[in-house]
Amino acid sequence: MPLAVLDRWYDRRLAPLGRPLSVVRPYSLVSDANLRALGALADDVRTGGVPGDFVECGVFQGSSAGVLGHALRTDPDRRLRLFDSFAGMPPAGEEDDAFARQFAGTHIGSERIARHLLDRLGVPREQVEVHVGLFEDTFPAIEHRPVALLHVDCDFHDPVALSLQTFWGDVAPGGVVVLNDYGAFQGCRTAVDAFVAVTPDADSPEAIDHDASFLRKRPAGA
Ligand SMILES: C[S@@+](CC[C@H](N)C(=O)[O-])C[C@H]1O[C@@H](n2cnc3c(N)ncnc32)[C@H](O)[C@@H]1O
Repeated sequence: MPLAVLDRWYDRRLAPLGRPLSVVRPYSLVSDANLRALGALADDVRTGGVPGDFVECGVFQGSSAGVLGHALRTDPDRRLRLFDSFAGMPPAGEEDDAFARQFAGTHIGSERIARHLLDRLGVPREQVEVHVGLFEDTFPAIEHRPVALLHVDCDFHDPVALSLQTFWGDVAPGGVVVLNDYGAFQGCRTAVDAFVAVTPDADSPEAIDHDASFLRKRPAGA
């Protein structure tokens, strides 16, 4: 079915959620509560003057990316930088548990839908970058720019660890890292805890709910 037909159908039914949720809800793996928390943290770093882009590792069909894009669409100096293979979850690694193993090959996303949602939300195209491929292949070529908010939503130990190792150096002091799977996936939790243990300027994760947590990069000297 053409996306425009679906848009009209969803618009009528989901309008009470308000934007951006009314647009992204049908395409989301993330709960309404976590999408709202993500939007609130994005507003918080933006209005708090933390410089930098919003980066997402794990896009799927672009629902949380839509929330982030909606928050920065009037802030032309910030970019929304999105990373995903759009080919589904890779096999879980040695540090992941049996629960994680069942997801290999699931969650096959769509760059087309992600871009469509961002268009519908009025996010200027020149602010959006989509990096398609496995993180192992795309991360080595990233441009190192300040990051105000990093959304890590890739479930398993190895991609979560790689996302933190790749972008932490770019996260601005006072910036936020949202860990969508800290409570839900043991491998994600193991990766985050190991990272925080050896990273002096990382605060401990704070729970948003039983799934998601976030942590802040300490301001210099704190
Ligand atoms: C749970 S989904 C993301 C959900 C999304 N944030 C949303 O709003 O619905 C996890 C995504 O991580 C991506 N992913 C996981 N490991 C990856 C890797 N090593 N390289 C590239 N993409 C990866 C998958 O393709 C999948 O789209």
